Amino acid sequence: MSRVLITRKTGQVGYELERSLQGLGEIIAVDRSQMNLANLNQVHDVIRHIKPTLIINPAAYTAVDKAESEPELALRINGEAPAVMAEEAKKLGAALIHYSTGYVFDGSKDGSYTESDPTCPVNVYGSSKLSGEQAIAAAGIPHLILRTSSVYSTHGKNFLLTMLHLANEREELSIVSDQYGAPTWSRTIADTTAHIVAQSLAATDQRTWWEERSGLYHLMAQRTTSRFDFTDAIMAHPLIAKKALLKPIPARDYPLPAKWPSNSVLSSRRPMDTFVNYHSGRTP
Ligand SMILES: NC(=O)c1ccc[n+]([C@@H]2O[C@H](COP(=O)([O-])OP(=O)(O)OC[C@H]3O[C@@H](n4cnc5c(N)ncnc54)[C@H](OP(=O)(O)O)[C@@H]3O)[C@@H](O)[C@H]2O)c1
Repeated sequence: MSRVLITRKTGQVGYELERSLQGLGEIIAVDRSQMNLANLNQVHDVIRHIKPTLIINPAAYTAVDKAESEPELALRINGEAPAVMAEEAKKLGAALIHYSTGYVFDGSKDGSYTESDPTCPVNVYGSSKLSGEQAIAAAGIPHLILRTSSVYSTHGKNFLLTMLHLANEREELSIVSDQYGAPTWSRTIADTTAHIVAQSLAATDQRTWWEERSGLYHLMAQRTTSRFDFTDAIMAHPLIAKKALLKPIPARDYPLPAKWPSNSVLSSRRPMDTFVNYHSGRTP
């Protein structure tokens, strides 16, 4: 019987995970009052108390610009808390699924990033997430680090909802046209995670299953677009009543506290080959 601890039940991915994982064991999703990732002792205690067989960590400090003025907090939540999760998972013999970001790269590559590309974060958020990745990879536990980018959903804070909100308020919007990503629905991330978890549970030898697959995977939709073109597509949707006039601008004309990589497109080839085109002979 699997016992899955989800470290946050709100958030774009956390919210969807609780739904997607139904039927895959006992699902325990906690909120910030139960487990605050900034409180490392509490992270230790909650995991020891719940004794999960699998920890899934969608919680993170995701405010990219704010992180520049709160580097210690960002590092604690994105770097040190995942390290504690890995440490506790090791003691319990549990597995850990963690999410990371394409902002571990500097964005200078021409084309999509693969898992073997060298990392080089250019902002505090990216550095803090890389630190979390490294701690988990070094722990020697069964783990998956799923890097994603440009996540959107119908709730929470994301580019899609911000554009809809701004279009209601303004007649014209200036949108950066030289930053590229591939907008990825949080439900796709959660459903893919559930698909992977189901495969692991269906394996006759779960230990070998994790040994053979542990590591880093890029998980992102495969339709590259700029922020401007994404906004244009949003405004063109027939259900959008109030449309704003869009003006493309270069990122240099929209200065922000953090440096934002111009390319965060990730190739999802590896998870496709490993999990999607995988045939176990059993229904996952
Ligand atoms: N959003 C993106 O575009 C994007 C891009 C690349 C990678 N990712 C990664 O994907 C994963 C999921 O992101 P997401 O889009 O679902 O992020 P999100 O919507 O910002 O959700 C993050 C969650 O973490 C929680 N959280 C923040 N600080 C916390 C703390 N001290 N203790 C406990 N919980 C805390 C937040 O709680 P509150 O709701 O209370 O603040 C929120 O529920 C993260 O690892 C993120 O780094 C996201």
